[in-house]
Amino acid sequence: MNLLDALKWRYAVKRMNGSKIPTETLETILEATRLAPSSFGLTPYKIIVVEDEETRKKLQPHFYNQPQIVESSALVIFAAHTSVTEKDVDAYMQEIAEQRGVPVEALNDFSGYVKGAIAHQSQEQLQAWAAKQTYIALGFGLVAAASEQVDATPMEGFDPAAVDAELGLAAQGLHATVAIALGYRDAANDYLSSAKKVRRTTDKLIIKK
Ligand SMILES: Cc1cc2nc3c(=O)[nH]c(=O)nc-3n(C[C@H](O)[C@H](O)[C@H](O)COP(=O)(O)O)c2cc1C
Repeated sequence: MNLLDALKWRYAVKRMNGSKIPTETLETILEATRLAPSSFGLTPYKIIVVEDEETRKKLQPHFYNQPQIVESSALVIFAAHTSVTEKDVDAYMQEIAEQRGVPVEALNDFSGYVKGAIAHQSQEQLQAWAAKQTYIALGFGLVAAASEQVDATPMEGFDPAAVDAELGLAAQGLHATVAIALGYRDAANDYLSSAKKVRRTTDKLIIKK
């Protein structure tokens, strides 16, 4: 299936059938989220994958009892860093140095530039900025799932503080922002499975100058 057909095939599934996603396929989707870009490449978030049924059962009430939480095969939760500091920038420079095989001192200018960009922002602003980055990874995950013919529901309908508490995220300096339930549609029980996709028409959405 080509990319646009895959994107037309996908929809935000409301009911899933409980079938498991093959490990390799799940890894492909997760790898796509890992490959998402972020501002400066700083990746101020973590991606938490919950396959365990018991944990998903415990999470379901925090997702206002949406069925996909337990009917999916895996729940992927994107959690933004609650703080972004110079230490994070230093750790990132170390990663670049290792992965590119360059001395970390060669990155001093870039490091200073990134530190300068975060210096005058409050931790609240930085947390909001980190949260925005998670939505890019979300998008990559949605497209990858469609390309793998795996159903995916993007989900913001949850109580972030309750999810943070259930998964011990706050203690790790993380805050849940958005999630994807991954699995397979239960077409017979999902009223949306045969509904026409509604999108703003090209002429109303795309402005060419
Ligand atoms: C950030 C975000 C959060 C969403 N949260 C939920 C959710 O909690 N539960 C749900 O069933 N659908 C959720 N949706 C699905 C949207 O309602 C759906 O993507 C939109 O209506 C377009 O329909 P389609 O994706 O089926 O084509 C969410 C979508 C996005 C992008």
